[in-house]
Amino acid sequence: MRRTGNKVEAMQHSRELDLMIRLAQEAGDIIREGFGTAMQIEHKGPVDLVTEFDRRSEALILSALRRDYPGDGLLSEESGSNGIHGERTWIVDPLDGTTNFTHGIPIFAVTMALMDAGGLRTGIVYDPLRREMFWGERGVGAFLDDRPLHVSPVNDLRRSLLVTGFPYDIATSRFNNLDHYGHFALRSQGVRRLGSAALDLAYLAAGRFEAYWDLQLSPWDVAAGALLTQEAGGRVTNIHGGDDFLRRDLTLLATNGHLHPAMLEVLRLGAVPEGPSPSASG
Ligand code: IPD
Ligand code: CA
Ligand code: CA
Repeated sequence: MRRTGNKVEAMQHSRELDLMIRLAQEAGDIIREGFGTAMQIEHKGPVDLVTEFDRRSEALILSALRRDYPGDGLLSEESGSNGIHGERTWIVDPLDGTTNFTHGIPIFAVTMALMDAGGLRTGIVYDPLRREMFWGERGVGAFLDDRPLHVSPVNDLRRSLLVTGFPYDIATSRFNNLDHYGHFALRSQGVRRLGSAALDLAYLAAGRFEAYWDLQLSPWDVAAGALLTQEAGGRVTNIHGGDDFLRRDLTLLATNGHLHPAMLEVLRLGAVPEGPSPSASG
């Protein structure tokens, strides 16, 4: 694959991947147009935001998916969802990192994934400002534009750069990640909080981070990035080490593989949601 300006030229892509790339670039144009402008911000919760650019990006993506794949399921952040069901489901976050976007911080992405009976099949994370197109297909690999991605080889937690996030109900939830943050900050090279779960995972796949954990996410935040991580040689589980991570209100541990046991051990030191893993399905 070659990139020319805003175009990624496809070679050996599935039809679905080509469509995702085109839609992410078009959604990226909308988002770039809004970035840095005065915009209307709606509050979905005390700290959970949505803008007209989230909605316009989503409308563009969903109308194309409905037109081209009318029989497939859709799960998308802003328009509610009909859940992960049937043979194939598209999972869409039209703007991941909305809080950054509204503050003029240049860290956000468009992300989408396709699931089929075999699990995650295709995914992309697109950073419209840097024009970085992270994509992956099951069994094919993970790529940044035309460059194959590999997770970092670092196997010592003390030499590892980690990334995490905090839930929107941080002020009221017992599982607000603050104690985990403290444990990891004392045991690693550092812990970042970028504010875009999709980019956190894309950067992990690219070897920029060694590990990422989070206690409260949704499938659209992580579906594509989880596939990228796996295809780049990393490992993705819930924070208890279970493979069934792609659920509503999911917890996530994604690592370069080497760090998985050490990360799980430190995660056990902090307060974690009860039960083996959240049980509601997507
Ligand atoms: C959020 C970001 C953030 C994560 C939140 C997500 P949004 O997505 O991915 O990094 O910590 O839990 O909800 O709301 O900007 O699409
Ligand atoms: Ca999101
Ligand atoms: Ca979003």
